[in-house]
Amino acid sequence: MWEHGDAIPTQTGAVRRILAEISFRVHDKNWLFENISLVRECFPHLEYIDATDMELRLQSDHGVIVAECRGKPVGFTVWYETLPGIAYIWLTGVAREQRGKGIGTVLRRTAIRELSKRGMRAVWCKISKEKTGWIKKHLEQGFRIVEHVREDGKDLYKLAKVFRGDVVIAL
Ligand SMILES: CC(C)(COP(=O)(O)OP(=O)(O)OC[C@H]1O[C@@H](n2cnc3c(N)ncnc32)[C@H](O)[C@@H]1OP(=O)(O)O)[C@@H](O)C(=O)NCCC(=O)NCCS
Repeated sequence: MWEHGDAIPTQTGAVRRILAEISFRVHDKNWLFENISLVRECFPHLEYIDATDMELRLQSDHGVIVAECRGKPVGFTVWYETLPGIAYIWLTGVAREQRGKGIGTVLRRTAIRELSKRGMRAVWCKISKEKTGWIKKHLEQGFRIVEHVREDGKDLYKLAKVFRGDVVIAL
């Protein structure tokens, strides 16, 4: 298992083979309820991730993109519409033993492509300030830091990527 702070494995042949074995599928919120143990493994500190909260957040247009390896889910990313044409990428999680192999990056890239194809005008997310590697990946994918916020005692950045038009409204 690779923990934050350890040296990050480079993309060896073995890692490239793992990525080649991953397939991506689009699901809806029911997938989250059916795979709640993976969701909790990725977000053990978020007590608010319960059925009621998920139902409330995912009433608008939403999607869950799931990464599967040999039929087994190894990661997911959840987005929902916060304003017409504006998608918020809420959660991205990768199973602990599969982290550091590029799955999270490919999941986010897949979500961004999917959201642009659906005609969204912009996509945004919030990331803890200390997750520098994860922030860097987003900047490489065309996100810009638009705001620095403090929530529940944590320093977060709001990052956004605009697909079309000028998004001048508050995210
Ligand atoms: C963040 C997370 C989704 C990354 O998934 P991943 O498949 O390991 O990511 P990748 O291999 O594509 O690496 C992307 C970047 O994330 C960072 N990262 C990877 N594994 C990490 C870990 N275990 N802890 C913290 N950061 C990690 C790295 O800095 C990496 O960037 P780099 O390779 O340029 O340095 C995964 O660590 C996870 O599920 N964490 C718990 C849930 C979470 O905090 N999600 C993010 C907020 S929504």
